[in-house]
Amino acid sequence: MTERVWPPHLDLPPLAAARGRVRLPGSKSLSNRTLLLAALADGATELRDVLDSDDTRHMQAALRALGVRVDGRAGNGDALTVHGCGGDFPVRTADLFLGNAGTAVRPLTAVLAVVGGDFGVSGVARMHERPIGDLVDALVGLGARIDCTGTPGFPPLRIGRGTIDVSRPVRVRGDVSSQFLTALLMALPLTGRDVVIEVAGPLISKPYIEITLAMMARFGVTVARDGFERFTIAAGSRYTSPGTLAVEGDASGASYFLAAGAIGGGPVRVEGVGRDSVQGDVRFADALEHLGARVTRGETWIEAAAPVDGRLRAFDLDLNAIPDAAMTLAVAALFADGPCRLRNIASWRVKETDRLAAMAIELRKVGATVDEQADALVVTPPAALRGAVIHTWDDHRMAMCLALATLGGVPLRIDDPGCVAKTFPDFFDRLADVAQPEVVPVIAIDGPAASGKGTVAEGVARHFGLRTLDSGSLYRIAALAALRGDVDLDDDAAMGRLAVGLDIVFDGGRIGLAGDDVTDAIRDETVSVAASRIAVLPALRAALLWRQHAFRARPGLVAEGRDMGTVVFPDATLKVFLTASAQARAERRHKQLIRKGTSVSLAALLQEIEARDARDSARASAPLAAAADAFHLDTTALTADAAVARIVEWAAPRLATGKAPLP
Ligand code: DC
Repeated sequence: MTERVWPPHLDLPPLAAARGRVRLPGSKSLSNRTLLLAALADGATELRDVLDSDDTRHMQAALRALGVRVDGRAGNGDALTVHGCGGDFPVRTADLFLGNAGTAVRPLTAVLAVVGGDFGVSGVARMHERPIGDLVDALVGLGARIDCTGTPGFPPLRIGRGTIDVSRPVRVRGDVSSQFLTALLMALPLTGRDVVIEVAGPLISKPYIEITLAMMARFGVTVARDGFERFTIAAGSRYTSPGTLAVEGDASGASYFLAAGAIGGGPVRVEGVGRDSVQGDVRFADALEHLGARVTRGETWIEAAAPVDGRLRAFDLDLNAIPDAAMTLAVAALFADGPCRLRNIASWRVKETDRLAAMAIELRKVGATVDEQADALVVTPPAALRGAVIHTWDDHRMAMCLALATLGGVPLRIDDPGCVAKTFPDFFDRLADVAQPEVVPVIAIDGPAASGKGTVAEGVARHFGLRTLDSGSLYRIAALAALRGDVDLDDDAAMGRLAVGLDIVFDGGRIGLAGDDVTDAIRDETVSVAASRIAVLPALRAALLWRQHAFRARPGLVAEGRDMGTVVFPDATLKVFLTASAQARAERRHKQLIRKGTSVSLAALLQEIEARDARDSARASAPLAAAADAFHLDTTALTADAAVARIVEWAAPRLATGKAPLP
């Protein structure tokens, strides 16, 4: 993996369709298991197609710190050679930093506790919130010496040298993480004795145990078992190198592309996992079939395409066996024909982030109605998705599955896109390979205050069935938030920060600010004056830019304001500059106010409009001006309907062909 510098955010365009092929990176679960087993084996093992990502780098660094020689390179098409130490690490004093890699922390903890020494195991802050108590209890019960040096039951850990006694069955809980059982299964053959492991209570994520057992078998240790309750390892078991081993493609990573095919027409084919994969997450393809997608499977590939009628079906599924790939189904639910229920996924709460809470928040941002329950999620898809800024919660899977919402024809800004490096560093490049961007038309209508832009824009949008953006409302919302939060209206940097953080929801005709309905409040005179004042601030304007871009979504947008055609949508399909004499505009506003029961003198209104015009056109940042390629429309003597009719006439051929007559 070449080191790459990640931007703070990545803007994804709306997507029209997905079609093509993707070669998957190696599986994270298989890579970290095989790296550790190869290190514990007798002899050298050549591992091909090991995933090159944060989590596998942490495992490799830990093995090297323990004195294991690892040569070569990870990555598709490359090979690593691990010189096994026969269960006897050359180095017995080491401090291991394992990031947020659960597949490294859990098995290494068990292995180090069994071999004994003086080891520190730590990770990022989130890792120190992810439970490990059940595993520590099981190991301490065997005689291991482990201290939780921070919070009891959580890393960081200090591991000493104990006396391991496996004469009685080892009991471990399996209802928080199946990795505790995986860790014991991988570590206890090192005792060389007969071992019986019993699972106390229910076991979650069972397919991951199958992966563990399959990999142990490849290294010569077969485990006898009684369902998922009792596992027996025979005395004298020893890991031995299979010589060469190729790591399968990542089945969890496959889920994003299979879903892309099912949502975006397809077919999309993933290469690197197939019908006989050891990874439980290939069952994600079965779930997609349940939603109506057309799935085909080969020995080393799987392909998915949209249902014959194009629409995914609503579902109600127990997803305990495929918790990771299930996140992709939560996003697929946005495209289903009714409410979808994802059940038995409480383990989401102890993963890279609390995925149940995080998923509910992000799905709501794109317009879904979400009921977050203790161990389930009910997702009701919206009539049309919304563009949004997606917070990724330092969780690679949040970033990858939410990116699929762009197939709803909406743009998304993905914060901290670099989090995908945990398991899939080139995810966004592979997505671009199969994605077909959608060219979303936009009609830009600019003009001075009270020129009738709002009414005309609504009329044009209604005629063509397009979305609308009243960009002035964003300035008004920022002004209101500043007034409420006591932020200095002339402090550009502070206003820019405020604008980035605003929690705004446009829902039908209503506007929400931090959960409060501010539809009427932003029309107050004090807010109008403050909006006009802050509109001169460059950092504030820049901060509002993406929020405006987010409206450019399928089937298209009519955007009105002061700089729609010049700054925000310079590539607009059609640009219109509305004017009207100051006198006519003052009269219109006067009539409006009288209808609302407010009495203001016409002269005062005229004076205010002239002052606002002067301010809007004199400011240095995005002054009010017509774009060079704008159609001018003087509405002084036109009714709103007549103005709409004129714009519809200009727009229709451009919307139909993407091209058009010159102004
Ligand atoms: O259109 P309006 O009156 O709701 O706009 C409120 C303020 O925001 C107005 O004083 C000008 C400013 N504005 C802007 O500078 N750029 C836009 N695109 C829209 C509004």
